[in-house]
Amino acid sequence: MVALHTEWLGQAWRQVFECRSTNDEALVWARAGAPIGAVVVAERQTAGRGRQGRTWVSPAGDNLYFSTVLRPPLKPSDCALLPLVVGVAVAETLQAVGAAPELKWPNDVLLDGKKVAGILAEAHWQGERVRHIVVGIGVNLNAIDMPIEIASIATSFRRSTGQTISSERFAALLCENLEREHDQWVAQGAAPVLDQWRRFARWGRAVSVQQEGQLISGVALDLDASGALLVRDDGGRQHRLWSGEIGFVEEAV
Ligand code: BTN
Repeated sequence: MVALHTEWLGQAWRQVFECRSTNDEALVWARAGAPIGAVVVAERQTAGRGRQGRTWVSPAGDNLYFSTVLRPPLKPSDCALLPLVVGVAVAETLQAVGAAPELKWPNDVLLDGKKVAGILAEAHWQGERVRHIVVGIGVNLNAIDMPIEIASIATSFRRSTGQTISSERFAALLCENLEREHDQWVAQGAAPVLDQWRRFARWGRAVSVQQEGQLISGVALDLDASGALLVRDDGGRQHRLWSGEIGFVEEAV
């Protein structure tokens, strides 16, 4: 058992061998009254999911499949920044164990230009109030051969650093970083989070983003004060792109 140095994140913990999706398990637990920071970790997922309806390939053995239940005491509109908060915590954890992560807006975590981790935040709200946000994090840790369907775009911690790491140790460090980043965000607002995020971003990167049915291609310049990405398109015009990357689901009373 790895020591966990947190006040609340991970203090309730469920480890399962297999489930469809740790986000689903965490949501069931949240509805049944899971405490803030309750964590579900699985060895494998049979229906792991990513953003925009994509599948998250989730074989046993090599990776972290992690979900936690959060209830930030903030307005729903302020919660839109949460995926960036989580991205910073994942990047800090990778850096702490010897990797050189980059963040790609809105919330992909990269090593050597390929995706090593993904974040899926699903907010469940009632009226004006967020009841709970389930944050799912998948990290490719120890695989050498990536599944064929993602081999060209994905990598792992091991492929990038030549090192292995236990998912338990990685999860414990992640809890510590996420608790600290979350608490700083709640206490101090967006600015410190955005500064941290900027440290891991590679500015000047070419981006292509679909916004309101229009594909905008250009160069990433910066984040604005609300976490939106500022992009200069190929014709020199500047755009402000907001991701809407947190899914909102209205709950029945
Ligand atoms: C992405 O599309 O980049 C987000 C991927 C999120 C994957 C994680 S794995 C743990 C949790 N359970 C899921 O079904 N998805 C998230």
